[in-house]
Amino acid sequence: MALSWEDYERAFAGVDAPFALVDLDAMWENAAEMLARAAGTPIRVASKSVRCRALLEAILAREGFRGLMTFTLPESLWLHERGFEDLLLAYPTADHAALAELGRLDTERPPILMVDSAEQLDLIDAAAGAGRRAIRVCIEFDTSLWLAGGRVKVGVKRSPLRTPADARALAREIVRRPGFELAGVMGYEAHIAGVGDKPLGKLLERPAIRWLKRRSAAELSERRAAVVAAVREVAPVELVNGGGTGSIHSTVREQVVTEVTAGSGFYAPTLFDRYSGFKLRPAAMFAMPVVRRPSGGVATLLGGGYHASGAAGADRLPAPHLPPGLRLDSREGAGEVQTPVIGSAAATLRIGDRVYLRHAKAGELCERFDSLHLVSGGRVVDEVPTYRGEGRSFL
Ligand SMILES: Cc1ncc(COP(=O)(O)O)c(C=O)c1O
Repeated sequence: MALSWEDYERAFAGVDAPFALVDLDAMWENAAEMLARAAGTPIRVASKSVRCRALLEAILAREGFRGLMTFTLPESLWLHERGFEDLLLAYPTADHAALAELGRLDTERPPILMVDSAEQLDLIDAAAGAGRRAIRVCIEFDTSLWLAGGRVKVGVKRSPLRTPADARALAREIVRRPGFELAGVMGYEAHIAGVGDKPLGKLLERPAIRWLKRRSAAELSERRAAVVAAVREVAPVELVNGGGTGSIHSTVREQVVTEVTAGSGFYAPTLFDRYSGFKLRPAAMFAMPVVRRPSGGVATLLGGGYHASGAAGADRLPAPHLPPGLRLDSREGAGEVQTPVIGSAAATLRIGDRVYLRHAKAGELCERFDSLHLVSGGRVVDEVPTYRGEGRSFL
């Protein structure tokens, strides 16, 4: 059962705000929800959406989760050194020093790098040096939906590789070069997985979003199978990755997909309230103290301006969560050092009370706090460092 504001205030009676927390009971419920949607396909955990080693370890210890999708090469090397295995770095790297370190790594299963062009292979070759163990790479292809003969493109700007022939050509280039091993194929359908079909304040757009997602999933299903078949003409790749928290259920329907990725679903930030296909419980929050009362209907919090990345808009702002009945002031938003909150509950708040807010995205919250207080059964059961708390800030 979800904890109330009073429950949290009781649990954190001895802790000064600001602080961040993860409600483990909610997080494990979210994990179970995602496993149910994955229906037996293993879930690779997106580390960027968790950014806490202790929680990544706890998640990977559970059945159904396998390997990490990492976000920078220094992060991947750091995790590898600390015993994490099966690392797929999902974004191309141009980090020369980290590549040199990867080149020196003497291990059976080094982190896999993402590539979509020969130019990236040149950079890796130059930085990692000759005579190294083979560097394992994964080919990323473009998942966007093209309409009107390619004049309208629905999706994000990631890979230039779109057709089976494009992917096959890069696969040939990889196997032709010494020092590389082709390990997988990835296509991340951000416009399906990362876009809610109930966007904030855009009622009229909802049917169009649903139609586009369905149409894109159908097109992608055929194209992904063809891309993978083309790459397998060149090398016997096993790993075929796709999806995200918002598309687990549709991505796993594709036979060719061997694993789906998910990360945000553990914390369930506000952007993930906006999907009609599944429901998650808010698990990650941050608490800010009420420090002044400008007038009867306003309580002002210290700080709180933790905006999420992406195209700027109201949906990227943090949202007051508890006590219920609070909202941001549209003229001030969430501020660097002060955030006024208004609404029915504001009048009841006193100096020193805490307001519990939710971030719009998942792992970015961890860049603001050194630790996460873990709550279970209405009690604080542990406090664990975030990446930042371990002195690591990778992006
Ligand atoms: C390559 C890739 N796969 C999967 C995901 C999904 O992650 P999440 O489940 O946190 O939305 C992302 C998120 O941006 C991504 O970049």
